Amino acid sequence: MTTRIIGTGSCPGDHVVSNGDLAKIVETSHEWIYTRTGIQTRHLSTGLGTSGMAAEAAKLACDNANINPEDLDLILLATSTPEYCFPNGACQVQEKLGAVNAAAFDISAACSGFIFALQTAGSFLASGTFRNILVIGADDLSKITDWGDRGTCVLFGDGAGAVVVRAEETGCFHGIMKADGKKGKVLSCPARSEGNFLTGKTPEMGYISMDGQEVFKFAVKKVPECISQLLSEQKISKEEIRYYILHQANKRILEAVAKRLDEPVEKFPMNIGEYGNTSAASIPILLDEMNREGKLDRGDKLVLAGFGGGLTWGSVLLEW
Ligand code: UT7
Repeated sequence: MTTRIIGTGSCPGDHVVSNGDLAKIVETSHEWIYTRTGIQTRHLSTGLGTSGMAAEAAKLACDNANINPEDLDLILLATSTPEYCFPNGACQVQEKLGAVNAAAFDISAACSGFIFALQTAGSFLASGTFRNILVIGADDLSKITDWGDRGTCVLFGDGAGAVVVRAEETGCFHGIMKADGKKGKVLSCPARSEGNFLTGKTPEMGYISMDGQEVFKFAVKKVPECISQLLSEQKISKEEIRYYILHQANKRILEAVAKRLDEPVEKFPMNIGEYGNTSAASIPILLDEMNREGKLDRGDKLVLAGFGGGLTWGSVLLEW
C-alpha cells in the first residue's frame, strides 16, 4: 500500500499586515524585509487560533477529497502553537469536524512538522492500520512572537493547511526525517513553565528566539542534501520531478536550494511574499493553492521538504 493525497484545504490568518505596518512598531523597512526575505505581507489570526484555522482547513480538505469526516480514521496536527497542553489540538479539530471515528494527536517538529506528520500518516497507511488520514499543519505564531524583536517579528505569519491522505495500491511515497538536538538553541521558544511553588516565581510567556544566519546556513546545506539522498535512494532523476514544494521560510533560501540542486528556480513555487513563514502550515497552504489553481496533474512527482526548530528537517517524494 502507498499513500496518495486526495484532497487539500487551507485557512490563512484573517488579518493582513504589510511590511509598512511593521515599520511603525519596530525599526525596519519594506526594503529590508523584502530584499532579505521576499516577504511583503503576512496574515495574522485575530480570532480562530490554531485549532480554529486547522478545522477550517480540514473541512475544505475533506470537501475537496469528497470524504465525510466520519470516514477519517486518524487526525494528525503538526503544530508548535497548541492552545492547550491537553486536550491536544487534533482532538479539538476532531470535535469541530465531527470526525467521531478518528483517533487524534499532535506532532511537534516546528517548521518540519507537516513533513514529519505526513510520513507518520504514510507509515500507518502502509502498515494497513488506517485507511483515511487527515494531516494538518497549523501555527498561530503571532502568539509566540516578540513584537519588539525586529529580527524575528517581520518573518512570521499565521495559518493552517490540511491534506487528506488515503491508502492506494498505485503511486509512490517515500520520505526521510532528520534531527539534530545539539543545535536546538539556534531556533527555540521556551514553554511557559517557569512557575515554581517554592520560589513563588510566576510562569512567564515564552517567545521565539533565533540565530537567523545559523538557520539560513543549516537550511541551504541540509535541505539539498536530504532531497538528493531521497532521490538517489529511490533511483529517481531530477528531471522526473515536476515541483519542489518547500517550507516557505525565505525566498533566498529557496533560491539557494534550487542552485545547489542545479534545478531551475521555476520548479520551486513560492507564496512567501503573501503569507510570510507560517511554520508547519506553509507546505500544505502552498499545496492547496497549487491544487486549486489546477497546477498539479495526476501522476506528477513532487518533492516536499521542510526544515526548522529542533533542529529538524526532512523530505517526501510522492506522486500526485
Ligand atoms: O522556518 C525557519 C525559520 N527561520 C528562518 O528560516 C530564518 C533563516 N534566516 C534568515 O532568513 C535571515 O538570516 C534573516 C532574514 C533572519 C536575516 O537576514 P540576514 O541577511 O542574515 O541579516 P543579519 O541577521 O545578518 O542582519 C543584518 C543587519 C543587522 O544589523 P547590523 O548588525 O549589520 O548593523 C541586523 O541588526 O540587519 C539588521 N536587522 C534588521 N534591519 C532592519 C535584523 N532584522 C532587521 C529588520 N529590519 N527587520
